[in-house]
Parts: sequence; C-alpha cells; structure tokens
Amino acid sequence: MLLWPPLSTLAWSPSFVFLILILLLGLYVRIWQRSCPWNLQKCPTDLTGKTAVVTGANSGIGKVVSQELACRGARVILACRNQEHGQQALAEIQAASNNNHLLLGEVDLSSLASIRSFAQWLLQEVPEIHLLVNNAGICGIPQKTLTPEGLDVTFATNYVGPFLLTNLLQGALRRAGSARVVNVNSFRHAYGYIDEEHLTGGGGPLVFNQNYDCSKLLLTSFTGELARRLQGTGVTVNSVEIGIVYTNIMKQLSWKYRFLFWLTSFFIKDPKCGAIPVLYLSLAQELDGISGKYFSSSCMVTPPSKPALDPHVAQSLWKATIRLTNLDKMD
Ligand SMILES: NC(=O)c1ccc[n+]([C@@H]2O[C@H](COP(=O)([O-])OP(=O)(O)OC[C@H]3O[C@@H](n4cnc5c(N)ncnc54)[C@H](OP(=O)(O)O)[C@@H]3O)[C@@H](O)[C@H]2O)c1
Repeated sequence: MLLWPPLSTLAWSPSFVFLILILLLGLYVRIWQRSCPWNLQKCPTDLTGKTAVVTGANSGIGKVVSQELACRGARVILACRNQEHGQQALAEIQAASNNNHLLLGEVDLSSLASIRSFAQWLLQEVPEIHLLVNNAGICGIPQKTLTPEGLDVTFATNYVGPFLLTNLLQGALRRAGSARVVNVNSFRHAYGYIDEEHLTGGGGPLVFNQNYDCSKLLLTSFTGELARRLQGTGVTVNSVEIGIVYTNIMKQLSWKYRFLFWLTSFFIKDPKCGAIPVLYLSLAQELDGISGKYFSSSCMVTPPSKPALDPHVAQSLWKATIRLTNLDKMD
C-alpha cells in the first residue's frame, strides 16, 4: 500500500526514526518505572487488631498506604493537617475498604504545639501503636521560610515533626510489643548536607530546593540514631525512598516546574506504584527485626549517603533536636 506522499518522505527521514526511538524509549521508561519491585498481592500480612498511624494520609502516597492498611483490617489513624481534605480521604478509604475503625486526627507537622496536642489526643484514643508511617512532606518552599515557632518550615515538616511525633509516641510503640516506624525518604537526600543551624533558618548556603534534600538527609540520620536507641525494644525503624511519583508534592513550585512534572507524568510512577516500597517496609514479614536501614525504591537495603552514617553527627543532631523540641524538659 502506498503511503500519503508527505508521510512516505517522513517515513524515511532520520527525524522520523528518531521520533520512533524516543517513543520506544519513553515506553520502556514507563514500563520500567511502573514495574513494582515487590508483590503486594502475595503478602499475607493481616492487620486485624493492629493500629497504624499515617501522616499526610489525605493525598498521594499516604492515601494509598492508608487504604491498603485499612483493607488489611488495621485501625488506621489518618493524621492530616486539613480537616476537610482528611474527612474526604477518610470517607473514600472507608468506602473502598469496608473498614469502620478509621480515625481522623488533625496535626500540622510544622508546628511543635500542634504535634504535642495531636499526640496527647492520640495516646488517649489508642494505647498501643503497631505502625507509624512518617509520610507527610513538602518541597519547593523558599529557603529560610520560618514557622511562628521560629523553625524553617521545610526542616520542621520533613524532619523535626517526624522526630518529635515519633518520640512522643515511643511509649505506645513499645507497648505494642512489636512495632515498626517507617520514614518516607527521597534519593534527593544524597544532594543535601548536615548543618544543625538550618533547623532555625540559619546555616550554610542552600541552592534551589536543597532545603528539601537536607531535610531528608536529617531524616536518614535520625532513622539510624533512633534504631540504635530502640535496640531490644521490639520497635524497628527504617527509611525508604520511593523514586519519582506523580503526586501533589510539587504544588508549591512555580507553574513551569508543575507543567514539566505534568508533561513527564506519563513516564513516572503513579501513587499506587510509588507506595509499594512504603508498604513493603510496613508489611513484609521478612523485615521483622530489621532496623536502622535505608531501602531503595526497589525494596533493597542500600547504603544512604555518607553523612547519614556518621554516628557522631547523628548523636549531635539528636541532642540539638531534643533541645529544640523541648523533649529534654519532659519527665
Ligand atoms: N512524589 C515524589 O516524587 C516523592 C519522591 C520522594 C519522596 N517523596 C516523599 O513522599 C512523601 C509523600 O509525598 P507525596 O509525594 O505523596 O506528596 P503529596 O501528595 O503532596 O502528599 C504530602 C502529604 O503531606 C501532607 N503535609 C504536608 N505538610 C504537612 C504538614 N505541615 N502537616 C501535616 N501534613 C502535611 C500533605 O497535606 P496537604 O494535602 O494538606 O498539603 C499531604 O497529605 C513525602 O515525604 C515526600 O517527601 C515523594
């Protein structure tokens, strides 16, 4: 069959071949990105009678994780900062899972006061916590944007918040006998550096969005130090990176970045696939007793970047954050 003349000319042109190659490469990237490294369906873990807390549960990864935990029978506490969005997510998860043991808790993880009142409420509601997923996170906030309490908002949300919340819930985690803390991390932590002054808006220079990278590096360091401190308690803590996932995470960035993110959305993971590594750390039975590790988005233990492995740095950071959160003044 003869092709329409302009098309037949195009068919032989190098640009046409190039276009086909690009499309094939794109298709390969899409399949590779979306291939799930672990078979969630084959995981037999049942969570009936267990309690799980997921921060940032109304959107993206947190919502998918919460729904899966609910489907497995867990009492899930959806820790959200926006009551209306949280209520909407709760209704959707309830309908999809047929689980009537879901609770909505209001917490702003960038606020120490809000975390304290959330933890106080939570500990009255649930005496034991079997799983805490520190998922809530932000990126794209200009450097040195301070909270009313004088903390850098990115560091407060991505690092100080999970630090304080986990410490306040430690008793309930220990009481569970066997419990897991999962910190949602990013490969971007490797582009950060540790400077305690960043926590309060000071410290060394940061290039565009490097406050996000640094905050995730601090979260990695915290994971290792907490694991050392929790040895022998039955509580394990690990962190996991999820690759690049098409969620609302870019909403604070300018329209150019959001447009680029949207353009590439065909090639990157959707939240359902992006949540798999987080669910692996939350559910996989082979991880019983494994603690202080950093997992890649392929669900493999991987060394994090060097500064996160330095125990002296981790201890110093721990002490600084204890002082900052006034945990040293608690009895
Ligand atoms: N998407 C990616 O490519 C990617 C890659 C690596 C790591 N991660 C990490 O994955 C985690 C989940 O992000 P996502 O991609 O699912 O993005 P997302 O859809 O924007 O979800 C983030 C969640 O965190 C909540 N949150 C933000 N600030 C909060 C605060 N101060 N207090 C309480 N909740 C707060 C958000 O609440 P609102 O809806 O009210 O804003 C939302 O529920 C984050 O820790 C992120 O750093 C994401």
